[in-house]
Amino acid sequence: MSFLSVRNFTADQVENLFTDAIFFKTKEAKPKLENKVISLIFFEPSTRTRISFEMAALRLGAKVSLLNGKVGTSLEKDETFEDTIKNIAAMKPDLMVIRANDSVKLDQMTNEVSPPIINAGWGTKGHPTQALLDILTIRESRRNIENEKILFIGDIRHSRVVSSHVDLAKILGYQIAFCAPKEMIPENNSELYFDNLKEGLDWASSVYSLRMQIERHTEKYSLDNISTQFQINNKTLNGWKKDGLILHPGPVNYGIELADEILIDPRNIILKQVQYGVLIRMALIYHFLKETL
Ligand code: CP
Repeated sequence: MSFLSVRNFTADQVENLFTDAIFFKTKEAKPKLENKVISLIFFEPSTRTRISFEMAALRLGAKVSLLNGKVGTSLEKDETFEDTIKNIAAMKPDLMVIRANDSVKLDQMTNEVSPPIINAGWGTKGHPTQALLDILTIRESRRNIENEKILFIGDIRHSRVVSSHVDLAKILGYQIAFCAPKEMIPENNSELYFDNLKEGLDWASSVYSLRMQIERHTEKYSLDNISTQFQINNKTLNGWKKDGLILHPGPVNYGIELADEILIDPRNIILKQVQYGVLIRMALIYHFLKETL
């Protein structure tokens, strides 16, 4: 089995992953995967996801093989993404972790190659490991996730993180809502929607800001619209819940969706998300490889 979507797991399986992730917080308590090789294939840029998967593998004792971008590979000679994946799979890694754009047929690849594939960010379709690490981070920040109301703010339409949360919220029972200019809301949206930040914040127990994903826009969009009406800053947070939480998947464009001052707001758990990112990826790698030990 591969992991392209959070829908691949039940609530009980997610709970087991969270238990393993917390177990891995204890450095001594780690299984040994010395004879395992994990192939990281990143066709799109990444800092947090790529390096945290690498750290997770290394902490478990596994080795990693990295394809990082097009430069220096046969993609420069017009080899397709799919053929690249199939050729690397033929080298028999134990697990493949892939970041790709929407056009890459990752679902088809799961039937055509034998190593399991983990989705490390697939176009706008989903970023399941990000959604898992977000919820683990909120939970470890003293929350009962079933009472959580997460307000996603900004470029909802192009966000693969939001796509995965729409699914994970149904599995785990937390609530989500969107807050953005209408143009940044998906067509046929069925989630709760606020076009006004103050009303959204009144509803929310956590805010989740998003970067404007300019690389996926087909038309030029004014960032001023976000920085003037939807930015999280001291003024817009004035009077907001003292026990609220502020999240962001990264990379943050400070001055657009978040003001610099949010860096020192005690409710900001953005770097905690990064910390739990390594732990949830350790749990996932272990989940896929433990049967083969
Ligand atoms: N959150 C996230 O996917 O960050 P990177 O693009 O740096 O991996």
